[in-house]
Amino acid sequence: MATLFCVLPRWRFFPRVLRDVSRVDMSAVVLGQHLSMPVCVAATAMQRMAHPNGETATVRACHTAGTGMMLSSWATSTIEEVAEASPDSVRWLQLYIYKDRALTQSLVRRAEEAGYKGIFVTVDTPYLGKRRNDVRNRFKLPSHLRMSNFDSPDLAFSAKEGYGEDSGLAVYVAQAIDPTLRWEDIAWLKGLTHLPVVVKGVLRAEDAVEAVKYGVDGILVSNHGARQLDCVPATLDVLPEIVEAVGDRVEVYLDGGVRRGTDVLKALALGAKAVFLGRPVLWGLAYEGEQGVGDVLQLLREEFRLALALAGCRSLQEVNRSLVRKEFISRI
Ligand SMILES: Cc1cc2nc3c(=O)[nH]c(=O)nc-3n(C[C@H](O)[C@H](O)[C@H](O)COP(=O)(O)O)c2cc1C
Repeated sequence: MATLFCVLPRWRFFPRVLRDVSRVDMSAVVLGQHLSMPVCVAATAMQRMAHPNGETATVRACHTAGTGMMLSSWATSTIEEVAEASPDSVRWLQLYIYKDRALTQSLVRRAEEAGYKGIFVTVDTPYLGKRRNDVRNRFKLPSHLRMSNFDSPDLAFSAKEGYGEDSGLAVYVAQAIDPTLRWEDIAWLKGLTHLPVVVKGVLRAEDAVEAVKYGVDGILVSNHGARQLDCVPATLDVLPEIVEAVGDRVEVYLDGGVRRGTDVLKALALGAKAVFLGRPVLWGLAYEGEQGVGDVLQLLREEFRLALALAGCRSLQEVNRSLVRKEFISRI
């Protein structure tokens, strides 16, 4: 009988010792914003499905934790409501580029006017990935919720019909989101706004180099939480080649699978400036709203501080590539 096995990469730490780690400074700068730690919150859509206070709870928890929140275009609270809930918070808008460019432009304008500090444009979603549970459940928003940034029922994803046997969101994306996007559209977006622009969803060094050429201010290495194309690599495994390709020309961030302080440390050692959390924030939100998100961020903060200290690092400046090495483990 043939034996099936796979080879999994594992990153191992090689810590330094005897370095007086009685004080550890975790502060970070992300897109020019000073944060208490390099752990931020990624865009996750429709947060009022997890808790009645949705995105307004998340932004408050982020502010209390001294970190930044990326608000989804598909939020169940408006860009303005989230700003009002926590006016001094660091907020970025995650942007989907709609076929209707005037509408897209108005989202950017509203983010500027409401004091957002940057635009994360998602580039891995010309169509929605095949999310089989959503197809099976004929996913729609519950009738009391809508994508609040849009007026018309169709764009607010609150229409009652028209999704057939498919995931409603897949139909929505096919109808509304622009699948013709090219690098020139990034230049268009850069020309629209004075805010920094980050491309979210890069997995290859060539695309990272292209992004730099088109003037982006940052690159978020992301596979959309493995919700788009199946069988893509773990973001941590492609991070080194992307960091090597762009050097220090732009900031590189990572999301996907960050669950522990040691995950944060690995990503930083491999060259990420910061990491973003998706699902863990939704779990905290569903558990206990603002408090629950605060608990998740606090857990990550404590774990990251301990990981830094045990690795012999007193600040993020002391985290570097020599801290980690890749091992390959065979699994039968
Ligand atoms: C429920 C859910 C909703 C999401 N919504 C969005 C979204 O609206 N826009 C976007 O760019 N990414 C979205 N993402 C992807 C996240 O921004 C992020 O890339 C991913 O969740 C990170 O992986 P993690 O969940 O393992 O931390 C979503 C992810 C989840 C799980």
